[in-house]
Amino acid sequence: MTTEINKAAAYIRDRIGEQKRLAIVLGSGLGDLADALQDPITIPYQDIPGFPVSGVASHAGALMVGHIDGAPLLLLAGRAHYYEHGDAKAMAVPIGTLKALGVETLILTNAAGSLRKDVPPGSASLITDHINFSGINPLIGATGNERFVDLCDAYNPELCDRIRAAAKAAEAELHEGVYVWFSGPSFETPAEIRATRVLGGDLVGMSTVPEVILARHAGLRVGGVSLITNYAAGMESEELSHAMTMRVAATGAENMMKLFRAIIADLHVNPLT
Ligand code: HPA
Repeated sequence: MTTEINKAAAYIRDRIGEQKRLAIVLGSGLGDLADALQDPITIPYQDIPGFPVSGVASHAGALMVGHIDGAPLLLLAGRAHYYEHGDAKAMAVPIGTLKALGVETLILTNAAGSLRKDVPPGSASLITDHINFSGINPLIGATGNERFVDLCDAYNPELCDRIRAAAKAAEAELHEGVYVWFSGPSFETPAEIRATRVLGGDLVGMSTVPEVILARHAGLRVGGVSLITNYAAGMESEELSHAMTMRVAATGAENMMKLFRAIIADLHVNPLT
């Protein structure tokens, strides 16, 4: 893994210039951020040694660097999911590579279902903690005592506060809650959603949790924001589908853009230490 990460980092470093402190993984509905990138340099995942190639059409993978309102950042546009190949480590090389490139803070975004009636489709939610309902862990097989990663405050509290403040300043709608990872690719059953509610979950989705674990293992500061694309299974009569995820994600994109422009500017002017 270290060799792959070093190869990937060397390949990227030659092409992207100055070091970036902030990276964002773009989930469904955050594509606008990639479109807004100034002076973009785009490197398809398929060109980077060890990077995964996602088969989900809406997640075409590319590493991008550039500026948003003058603030430098790195984007991972597209992710590989556990449900594609049953590989929880699918994002290990990209995340390890961020660390090797000098990135300090990683904000993960995704599309999620909401268990709460007061958190509607189209809105955004800060992830404050997670429940790994899959039982799968990307660090299985890792060696050394570093694999016993502490996940208290996995979603960095200071970063969470800064994201809340940015939302307020930008007047972007931002709820918050606990994200529960189901492996997918099928959606959950209504009974699973009822069980999840009892367990303390507010949001459900098919990504992010393995990336958070890998990023904490790598020593990155982590934050997470979900774009709510639907009420969770059994809460509404409309059938859940990937098409619905993509359609509703587009309606929440403007709020997410407002939020992320504010976060990026704030972290640039006042970096976390
Ligand atoms: N469940 C799991 N993943 C999702 C959902 C959902 O309801 N909506 C968007 N991604």
